Amino acid sequence: MYEVKTLKTHVFFVDKNVDDLNTYPHILQAASYLQRGELVAFPTETVYGLGANAMSTAAVENIFVAKGRPSDNPLIVHIAKAEQLHDIACDIPPVAYTLIEHFWPGPLTLVLPKKEAVSPRVTAGLNTVAVRMPNHPIALALIKASGLPIAAPSANRSGRPSPTTAKHVLDDLDGRIAAIVDGGPTGVGVESTVIDCTTSIPTILRPGGVTKEDIEQVIGVVDIDRALVEKEAVPKSPGMKYTHYAPKATLIVVNGSSTFLQQLVNKNRANGLRVGVLTTEENRHTYEADVVIPCGRRSDLRTVARQLYDVLRAFDETNVDIIYSESFPNEGMGVAIMNRLLKAAGYEQMMEK
Ligand code: TXA
Ligand code: MG
Repeated sequence: MYEVKTLKTHVFFVDKNVDDLNTYPHILQAASYLQRGELVAFPTETVYGLGANAMSTAAVENIFVAKGRPSDNPLIVHIAKAEQLHDIACDIPPVAYTLIEHFWPGPLTLVLPKKEAVSPRVTAGLNTVAVRMPNHPIALALIKASGLPIAAPSANRSGRPSPTTAKHVLDDLDGRIAAIVDGGPTGVGVESTVIDCTTSIPTILRPGGVTKEDIEQVIGVVDIDRALVEKEAVPKSPGMKYTHYAPKATLIVVNGSSTFLQQLVNKNRANGLRVGVLTTEENRHTYEADVVIPCGRRSDLRTVARQLYDVLRAFDETNVDIIYSESFPNEGMGVAIMNRLLKAAGYEQMMEK
């Protein structure tokens, strides 16, 4: 049985820009932990992942214990070389190869028919497996050095915002995992896009770092899982049904003008509540509230994605009771941002009439 909260979590600092990452002592040491079936958190271009040997049921089991993750939520297998795909998946359709050609390494996860050898613990008993090749030198070097496919969910406690820094990982998992490779803050900031390649028209199950528009430029029209647009539908990606990312304070997403948002703030402060506002650099001086935190620039939504989880975690360090967030356009990177924000808010929204 995996001992919870009793481990000494080793922190390995690694500069992602050093030349010889593949033979870097800290990388080799972290890889040896993975080979022993232990858990190692590492940076990817999206968020930090919590890695384990994907071929070992016992190793993968440790992930669910450390995170407190529901056992019906399958994991993404991370690979560093294209050949590894064939150890994991079979009957790979041509469209998947086209996507791989254009987007790997990168924030796109493909759902494909699963090879027998992959632990059913990884796929939560499904006959498909999610695979991606991350675009981060440390992730790639670590996976290569381990010689294994690495199952890795985001390295947060279940229900918390995904970690974009090593500090976020330690805040959630210190004492519960063997090691973390600290390679600095991640870049994209939201998780990979998950696309099911087993349907006749590929279907986006989770919006993320690669936009629908980017994908359609390469393979033509794709579907979106109904659950992403209809509240009642059951998501095909089991992880999408859980509450996620929620800050401690009540979060409400506001659809309307800054004047409307300020009125909501004023009303709550008049009732004695401490109120926070999640805004953008452009509007940071627009609001008067107890705490105002800007999250990137509206003019470049990638900067909003990059900072979103850090900002949600930052509100937990304040004493606000309620947070009003601006909303974002539902296109391009805005789709992933709004998906995560609304999940964090438990779908609480205020519309200006
Ligand atoms: O960017 C990312 O994807 C990060 C980094 C660490 O790579 N990983 C990540 O993993 O976000 P996780 O476990 O937090 O989210 C995996 C998502 C879940 O929504 C899960 O339900 C879905 O992928 N998934 C995994 N296997 C699946 C499958 N066979 N069919 C459908 N959905 C699957
Ligand atoms: Mg996650």
